[in-house]
Amino acid sequence: MNVYDLVISNGVVVTAGDRTRCDVGILNGKVAALGTDLKGREMIDAEGKFVLPGGVDSHVHIAQPSGGGIVMADDFETATRSAAAGGTTTVMPFCMQEKGTPLRETLKAYHAKADGQSYVDVSFHLIISEPDEQLLGQDLPALVEDGYTSFKIFMTYDDLKLNDREILDVMGVARETGALVMVHAENHDAIRYMTEQLEKAGRTAPKYHATSRPSVVEREATHRAISLAELVDVPVMIVHVSNREAMEQIRWAQQKGLRVLGETCTQYLVLTEDDLDGLGMEGAKYVCSPPPRDVASQEACWEGLRTGVFSVFSSDHCPFRYDDEQGKLTPKGRTSFRWVPNGIPGVGARLPVLFSEGVMKGRMTLEQFVAVTAANPAKTYGLYPRKGTIAVGADADIAIWDPEQRATLRHEMLQDGADYTPYEGREIVGWPVTTLVRGRVVMQGGELVGDKAHGQYLPRERSPFAVRPDESSAR
Ligand code: URP
Ligand code: ZN
Ligand code: ZN
Ligand code: ZN
Repeated sequence: MNVYDLVISNGVVVTAGDRTRCDVGILNGKVAALGTDLKGREMIDAEGKFVLPGGVDSHVHIAQPSGGGIVMADDFETATRSAAAGGTTTVMPFCMQEKGTPLRETLKAYHAKADGQSYVDVSFHLIISEPDEQLLGQDLPALVEDGYTSFKIFMTYDDLKLNDREILDVMGVARETGALVMVHAENHDAIRYMTEQLEKAGRTAPKYHATSRPSVVEREATHRAISLAELVDVPVMIVHVSNREAMEQIRWAQQKGLRVLGETCTQYLVLTEDDLDGLGMEGAKYVCSPPPRDVASQEACWEGLRTGVFSVFSSDHCPFRYDDEQGKLTPKGRTSFRWVPNGIPGVGARLPVLFSEGVMKGRMTLEQFVAVTAANPAKTYGLYPRKGTIAVGADADIAIWDPEQRATLRHEMLQDGADYTPYEGREIVGWPVTTLVRGRVVMQGGELVGDKAHGQYLPRERSPFAVRPDESSAR
């Protein structure tokens, strides 16, 4: 009879497709058997618990240079510790092209930050900020071959935004190479116009960040990104969608048969622009782009998740310390919302908030939860079935959830490097009590027991959405 390294017994194993009461046998870091009465050298009793694939957070920013003396609150050690605390076992941060520096060089430096410093597995997307001939013709195609199979482009931010021609050029390379383009869709000129109007009127408090980026600027850019992708005949992922109008652009495109994918994030389900209206500078804690909007927008994002318009649910973890001159409260940031660094922490809170608000409140099934938090991101970005499911041969990345555990969310529970969570004080039902990465327990009952050299870097396959049917046999 087989004896496994570890057996998780008596739990209900849930994937994107099924739920089964069975044991999980783990050998050499992989799922080796699903069955009954399995024997392990170590045993974890999961009676009364759900045994889920570890989360795959396909949109996080870690130790990304921010300029202006601003420093992100997390390095790989703290961000991946927080991921594990919240049941996530793979994170996908961005390596941002720095203008004037070969992307390979920046990538090398970025790997050096992650290597040996990660509790969970890691894979990088690229951010393209300078699509010149060298990058488009040589560097990018070679990088796709090496497993960097997705890149993000921005339609806003002074130092990152691409114009429509540049977007078309990047999409053209994606088409040629089978990479997947992720788009931050907000109309930059419209935001600049609004910002200048607000500043002239003396409206500079953090809450005006939301006023400066209304839904229409997101809807317009979403439609434009979809149109450009249609022109090039390439799939596109619209990330961090915040409202109904943008969601409906994606639904319209999907119904038209275009290969358009959508992502929404925790903040758009549970925060609103009222959160930006705190005393003094407190609203800065919630400054992110697109901004959280209103209750009707939250409902639209839930609808998008439930109906499959959004196939991926991410955190867009982008942490800056609040009470810190290198974070949200730089001297410049105090003068206008325009200078408050955009982004909020969320890699640890993502799964508990969705489990509690989504599964426990009957808005989605457990299978849907697994789909949008683990299976779909893994599929979309070329990591499936190694990641995102519990099946024989898959990595034993597992989160054991206790649906009975209740908690009032406190920042300390999330174990990141920031000094706050935007979800402070929320009542949470259900918690990931044990997190395993490739068969090793990393987090147990809120205690870190893993080792920061355990996380591995994952080169990725091409997205199945990005390989055209007429080409799949050619590759
Ligand atoms: O405000 C945000 N979302 N900051 C992170 C960078 C990005 O645009 O995803
Ligand atoms: Zn590496
Ligand atoms: Zn973005
Ligand atoms: Zn982001």
